[in-house]
Amino acid sequence: MTITFIGHGYVGLVTAAVFADLGNTVYVIGHTKEKIENLKKGIIPIYEPGLTEIVKKNVDAGRLIPTLDYDPAIKESNIVFIAVGTPPLPSGEADLSVVYKVAEKAGEHLSGYTVFSVKSTVPIGTNEEVKKIVEKVKPQDAEVEVASVPEFLREGTAIADTLHPDRVVIGSDSQKAKDLLIELHKPLEAETVLTNLRTAELIKYASNAFLATKISFANAIAHLAEKTGADAIKALNAVGLDKRIGHRFLAPGAGYGGSCFPKDVSALISIAKDNDYDFKLLKEVEAINKQARDSIAQKAITMLDNDVNGKKIAVLGLAFKPDTDDMRFAPSIDVIKKLQEKGAKITAYDPEAQNNAKKLVSNVEFAENALDTVKGADLLIIMTEWNEFKEMDLEKVKSQMNEAQIVDSRNIFDPQEMKQQGFSYQGVGR
Ligand code: UGA
Repeated sequence: MTITFIGHGYVGLVTAAVFADLGNTVYVIGHTKEKIENLKKGIIPIYEPGLTEIVKKNVDAGRLIPTLDYDPAIKESNIVFIAVGTPPLPSGEADLSVVYKVAEKAGEHLSGYTVFSVKSTVPIGTNEEVKKIVEKVKPQDAEVEVASVPEFLREGTAIADTLHPDRVVIGSDSQKAKDLLIELHKPLEAETVLTNLRTAELIKYASNAFLATKISFANAIAHLAEKTGADAIKALNAVGLDKRIGHRFLAPGAGYGGSCFPKDVSALISIAKDNDYDFKLLKEVEAINKQARDSIAQKAITMLDNDVNGKKIAVLGLAFKPDTDDMRFAPSIDVIKKLQEKGAKITAYDPEAQNNAKKLVSNVEFAENALDTVKGADLLIIMTEWNEFKEMDLEKVKSQMNEAQIVDSRNIFDPQEMKQQGFSYQGVGR
C-alpha cells in the first residue's frame, strides 16, 4: 500500500517507519526543511531505541520518503494519517489548530479514494470536523472517508509497541474504510476493535486516563504506607497479583509526566466539563500526581533538616522516564525548581535528556557522568530509573559525596542494603 503520515513526532515517525518496514511505501510529510533533510540522511530528531536504524534502513530502501510536499504524497496514498501534536491550551483543552490546518492542506491534494485517518489524540467529535474540512476543499472527483485510529505506543519501547500492540482500534462509519485499515494492520496480528468514530476517540482518552489513575492510586497508597509504617511496594505487588488488577502501572514514585498523561487527563476533564460532567475522579488523580512530585522535594528538604540554602544537591536522571530524551512535563523540573527556591545548588546528569533539560531549567550545573554529579553533594536525588544508575558502584558514590544521603524517587535501591552501605535513604512508600 502507499500511505502518508503528516507529522514525524514519536507517533508519526515510529508508525511510518514500522509500516515501511512491513513493505509499504510511506511518505512522511514535515514542515521544517532541516528536519526533513536530516530524516533523508537517517538523522532523527528524537532519542528512541532502534528508531535510527529502522528509519535509515527504510529511507535507503526507498520505502520511507521524508518530504515537505503534499504532492504527490497525498495523491498516491490510499490512507493518509494525521499524526501531528495536540498540545494543551492554558484551559487544559487540546489545541487542534494544527490538525485542522494539515487536514485542509492535504484535502486539496486528494485523488481517487482515500481514507483520512487521525492518529493524533483528539477530543470526541474532532474526526467529524476533519471530515467536514476535507469534504469542503477536496477536488470534486475525489472520494474521502474518515477513520480514527488511536495510537498506544510508549516512548522508549515505541517500535516493539507498534509491532506488537495489545489491540488495534479502528473507528469509522464506513465499512470500506475499515476494510482498508484492517488490511494495512493485518501483519501486526493484533486483536482489532472495530467501532465508530466517537468511540475510538474516547478509547484513547479513557486508556491514558485509566493508566494515570492507576499510578495516582499507587502514589496515594504509598503516601498512606509512609504514614502507617506499611510497605507500599509489597502491598501493591500483592494487590497486582490479582489478575483483575494486574501489577503494571502500579509503581509509586515522582508521579507521571511526559507528553501524554498530563495532557490527556486534563483534556478529558475538559471534555467532560463541556458535556456537563464534573470528572472529580480525574481532578483528584491530577492532585495526587502533583503531591507525588512535591513530596520528593519535601523529602529532600526534611533530610537536610530544613536547611537547604547553599546545599549541593545532585540529581540523577531528568527525562520523564528512562530510554527517552523527552523532558515534557518531567517531574524533575518541578523538583529542581522547588529546591532552587530554597537556595539549593543543583548539579544534574541524564544520559540523553540533558540538551532538552537545558531549555527548561536554569542555574543547573550539568555533569558528564553519574560520579561527577555526586562530587561534594550533600544529598542525591534519583529522578529517573535509567539502568546505569541501578548498577552504580555505591561505595564510590558514597566516597564522592559530602553527606551520604539519598532520596530515591523511583525505588531503584533496596532500603536495607542502603542502610548497610551507610546511607540515609528515603524511597517512596517504604
Ligand atoms: C503513554 C501510554 O503508556 C501509551 O500507551 C500511550 O500511547 C502514550 O502515553 C501516548 O498517549 O502517546 P508514555 O507517555 O510514553 O506512554 O509513557 P508511560 O510508560 O506510559 O509512562 C508515563 C509516565 O508514568 C512516566 O512519567 C512514568 O515514569 C510514569 N509511571 C509509569 C509511573 O510513575 N508509575 C508506573 O507504574 C508507570
